[in-house]
Amino acid sequence: MFYIHLHVASWFIALILFFTSWYLLSIDKQQPAKIAHSINRIIFLVIFYTGFILIYRYTQAPVWENFGAEAVVKAIGGVYLVCLMEWLISRFQKKLPSRGLVIQFFLVLLMVLALGFGRLPWGFLP
Ligand code: HEM
Repeated sequence: MFYIHLHVASWFIALILFFTSWYLLSIDKQQPAKIAHSINRIIFLVIFYTGFILIYRYTQAPVWENFGAEAVVKAIGGVYLVCLMEWLISRFQKKLPSRGLVIQFFLVLLMVLALGFGRLPWGFLP
């Protein structure tokens, strides 16, 4: 339960920091955006740490039988989301086209939230 809470708290903070950096870059505030993104990189480590502990516990628990595949898809989606946040910020900094990655970001986010909250059995939602 502790790791689920830490996991949810960390990706929630990461999303807030990601949208903050995005907004700051959109109004050309490079330096504050860099600070928000640097803090976010530390949060990414917490997401990975808690996510990997959770997936390891999945492999050791009876839920693995029924939900193993979905949990692995969820975990890969989570890793990919962190990559997307990293790529997007770097593209926003350089003002490169990023619509394709933005679409991927929202689709994968939707999928990961649906799997995490909607399908997978561990968590704090009833
Ligand atoms: C930004 C990235 C991520 C987001 C938005 C995210 C989202 C979520 C959500 C919504 C849950 C369900 C929590 C609940 O039901 O209370 C969850 C649980 C979980 N996450 Fe993540 N996650 C991310 C990254 C990762 C990574 C990188 C991994 C693994 C390497 C991972 C592995 C897991 C596992 C194994 C669970 C437990 C599944 C369950 O609820 O039964 N996640 N995550």
